[in-house]
Amino acid sequence: MITNTEIEKRGNQHPNHIVDFKQENRKLLFTTQNGVILEVSILRDSVVRFRYATEHVFEPDFSYAISDDVNTGFNQLEVQDEIPEYVVTTNKIKIYINKSNLKVQITDLEDNVLNEDELGFHWEENYDFGGNVVKMSKICHSGESYYGMGDKASHTNLKGKRLNNWVTDSYAYGKDQEPLYKAIPFYVGLKESVAYGIFFDNSFSTYFDFANEKRNVTSFWADGGEMNYYFFYGPKMSQVVEAYTDLTGVPELPPLWALGFHQSKWSYYPERNVKKIAATFRKLNIPCDAIYLDIDYMEGFRCFTWNNRYFPNPKKMVQELEKDGFKVVTMIDPGIKIDRDYWVYQQAMDNGFFCRRADGPHFKGKVWPGECKFPDFTNPEVREWWAGLYKEMIAEIGVRGVWNDMNEPAIMEVPSKTANLDVRHDYDGHPCSHRKAHNVYGMQMVRATYEGIKKYTFPRRPFVLTRAAYSGTQRYCATWTGDNVATWEHLWIANVQMQRMCMSGYSFVGSDIGGFAEQPNGELFARWVQLAIFHPFCRVHSSGDHGDQEPWSFGEEITNIVRKYIELRYQLLPYLYTMFYKYINNGMPMLQSLVFYDQEDTQTHFRTDEFLFGEHMLVCPVQEPNAQGRRMYFPRGNWYSYWTDEVIEGGVERWVPAEIYKIPLYVKEGAMIPKYPVQQYVGEKEIKELRIDVYYKEGIENSSVYEDQQDGYDYKKGRFSLRKFRLRGKENELIIQQFKDGNFTTSYNTFKLNFHGLPFTIGTVEVDNEEVDFSEIKLNGNNSIEVTKDFTELHLIGK
Ligand code: GLC
Repeated sequence: MITNTEIEKRGNQHPNHIVDFKQENRKLLFTTQNGVILEVSILRDSVVRFRYATEHVFEPDFSYAISDDVNTGFNQLEVQDEIPEYVVTTNKIKIYINKSNLKVQITDLEDNVLNEDELGFHWEENYDFGGNVVKMSKICHSGESYYGMGDKASHTNLKGKRLNNWVTDSYAYGKDQEPLYKAIPFYVGLKESVAYGIFFDNSFSTYFDFANEKRNVTSFWADGGEMNYYFFYGPKMSQVVEAYTDLTGVPELPPLWALGFHQSKWSYYPERNVKKIAATFRKLNIPCDAIYLDIDYMEGFRCFTWNNRYFPNPKKMVQELEKDGFKVVTMIDPGIKIDRDYWVYQQAMDNGFFCRRADGPHFKGKVWPGECKFPDFTNPEVREWWAGLYKEMIAEIGVRGVWNDMNEPAIMEVPSKTANLDVRHDYDGHPCSHRKAHNVYGMQMVRATYEGIKKYTFPRRPFVLTRAAYSGTQRYCATWTGDNVATWEHLWIANVQMQRMCMSGYSFVGSDIGGFAEQPNGELFARWVQLAIFHPFCRVHSSGDHGDQEPWSFGEEITNIVRKYIELRYQLLPYLYTMFYKYINNGMPMLQSLVFYDQEDTQTHFRTDEFLFGEHMLVCPVQEPNAQGRRMYFPRGNWYSYWTDEVIEGGVERWVPAEIYKIPLYVKEGAMIPKYPVQQYVGEKEIKELRIDVYYKEGIENSSVYEDQQDGYDYKKGRFSLRKFRLRGKENELIIQQFKDGNFTTSYNTFKLNFHGLPFTIGTVEVDNEEVDFSEIKLNGNNSIEVTKDFTELHLIGK
């Protein structure tokens, strides 16, 4: 038993014995003699919420993180009053609540411990601010591992780390630097290869200690608010992440162009320069869908204005770029310049929309335009006003996406880098200080932005990007990992950050390719592009003060490599779009760390570099200069080299070639990977035929492809096309069954199936039980056939 004398001395208080138990439907209330109430709510058989009150009083139950469409419902709930504990049983887990100290132990139905309190809930009164510092400590078992937690720039496995969630402008952050831009207080624990998750839904500054201070203790605490956490039982990691994602929500489908390649810089201006960049993409045949305008498009950095000298006719420019397939994305920051002649400032002043300090004056802080005031986005009225400000930019000028930056909020020239802690917020009718609202401020800003863009861009789909985020922000927008640096270490960081974000329910994420600060050389840039085409959000951005960072900025060899990889991304768009569809429909992360892919293989628990792109592609970036190859771990199963079709049996680490033009890339056997032709931008070409790369497997594998109009909302009325394929390979046969859903008619009528690794020579081909003539299906040796997209069963038989 660990005595926590250090904390004890500072005045920790603990619950004592239970004196009362009440059940209100799915809520169980346990009250202790010293006034602690533990509320246990059963959301699902494997999802339980734990909430603690002190002095018999709960706070109003309100959270920005929780989605409106949470799935709830369970099959069983039984409470037994035993000695020495209450035993709560659902269909999946048992919860033991100790009567003498309120400690909780959670087990599976066979009484295998999943998670148990060490000291459990305890608290310390906060004399400076009132309320409590609320704390929870859990036993960390040997061999237990921890994953998730948003954008932390640390090893994927967080065991041994102490982390802080306080959204922070972290220019040029380093490995293990804390805190960063996002606050996602959710982790996945893995104990004896069984997964569970904990989401500590508290927007104050939160801290997590994963066996850092004490080898066998994992704890989390917050500067204020309530001890309020959700427990998710797996046993698979995918079930934990799906349940967390269901609880905190998913976005709608983005327009397909948003999954294309984006080019940004601080800043492209004037107009002539923007057009020159766009034209160079087209001239060099490098696909690109979006070009970004950073702060310099504004008049003196005033949001919702245009600098008329640089951009005399923004509408015309946007239209011209659109004709060439480019969508314009503009930057909007939260700070509003203090300027009595500026309409946005005036409106906010007239309506009392700016945040105030505790004693009444407005909160002021310095950002790009100089002294600014800051709208209180936690006020629903302010959000509505803010959404309305986008009307001209979106509905009239035709800007297609907006990028919200500095929304931590970032404040210059102050040590805290942010607003003063006494700043007041509405918090949707639960007035509070910045201590509580800080972590959700950026989230509420981007939520308002999303509402505006969605409204004014209708019937098209919105595209919004944020830097700051709290759990649940994924419902509104994509995000990027902030101001990284052009170093090899940052390539490593980008890789773990994207995997970690995906594990944390936030899949639409990318890094500034090539690095924001400093200048990459050609090799680093090429290696970064090779990795980032496999990230859900794919954008080059840089601070621009160290030189150019366009695909052609590093000489011809690098340009050719970069073009090839961006082309690959465009070919994989239907695969990527299907990943997105699965993310929002099943909570399936778009990228999977190896531990997520195969948690039972303990080799995966400490891997950082390799990851699955979707369900079927295995990627391992090169993260150092001059590499001709590298070592990588192949998870169990058989993997085809994307480049050579060589098959590698997994469960081993081995050396793989990786010359500068090649990233180690493998495909799971049995996979069917859909591809579009290379396009210079989404929608450039009508898709006349869907190419599907079929990787033979002896056995069964499922694949799917989701398609729709690529924009708009008709898919919600059933106008989508979901094709599920079940491949079954035998020694001398290959059978592909297709199951179709939705009533969208794709522009193509045929599939071109490209076979990889067929172990037999095709003798007969049957479509829906009828033998077909080879000329009809254009059999090309053993390599490919063309068949109608409407087959139900395709049967290849060897000679
Ligand atoms: C911040 C952003 C960066 C942007 C710059 C200027 O540093 O993170 O992406 O370019 O501000 O707006």
